Amino acid sequence: MSSPSLAHPLTSLRVCVAADAEAAAEVAATRILTLLREKPTAALGVATGSTPSPVYRALARSLQSEPLDLSRARAFALDEYVGIDPRAPQSYRSVIDAEVTEPLGFDRRLVAVPDGSSADLDAAASAYEAGIDAIGGVDLQILGIGHNGHIGFNEPGSPHDSPTRVVDLAEETREANARFFDGDIDRVPRQAMTQGIGTILKARSIVLLAFGSGKAEAVARALEGPIAEASPASALRRHADVTILLDKAAASSLS
Ligand code: PGA
Repeated sequence: MSSPSLAHPLTSLRVCVAADAEAAAEVAATRILTLLREKPTAALGVATGSTPSPVYRALARSLQSEPLDLSRARAFALDEYVGIDPRAPQSYRSVIDAEVTEPLGFDRRLVAVPDGSSADLDAAASAYEAGIDAIGGVDLQILGIGHNGHIGFNEPGSPHDSPTRVVDLAEETREANARFFDGDIDRVPRQAMTQGIGTILKARSIVLLAFGSGKAEAVARALEGPIAEASPASALRRHADVTILLDKAAASSLS
């Protein structure tokens, strides 16, 4: 189904090239289930976007055949748009509710999403960071990667020690996400609240998934380019426990 995880020759990361996205998603789902079986109160870092959706679907399928009580598990979303109604279908609160909280049976009170509609965004960002620290940190962070190499909404130029904060979205990110707003880029928010790269690196384990040829260059820059602020995902090479799960197309630019 998938090749064994291999230490990438140029990085400390484990890289696994799966037969396809579904197979990669199964690997990620198995990692999550193993964690939650061992530690029912674990904190899972959850991403939104197209990439993690098959992971959540694989989890839901597994839970149907092999039920596991997730009601004591915590989840922390990576990011949220600023200035969007949390009840809007495009809000990451809505997406996490629909893809994670409800189908997997998390207790909604234990699922945190940055508060992008707060009247005091800086205070809300600091409170989000403090909330992660207060429960002892994220055990396993699921990540996608943007075409420009972003993780969360940490666009190129983000410091690798950045905390949760409000950021401006890159134009290419807004263009990519217009598909969730009926293709209308003018409706895509210009800012977001995101866990920082420093926040992400505090997670005990990280699994990054990338699918399709459109992600190949970003993956190659992250794994084989310089570790630099211009390449947000390259910061993952500073972490001791990262697994990269790719389909063949997303791995196609690796040397
Ligand atoms: P995608 O987004 O999974 O929708 O491609 C990934 C990202 O922007 O981090």
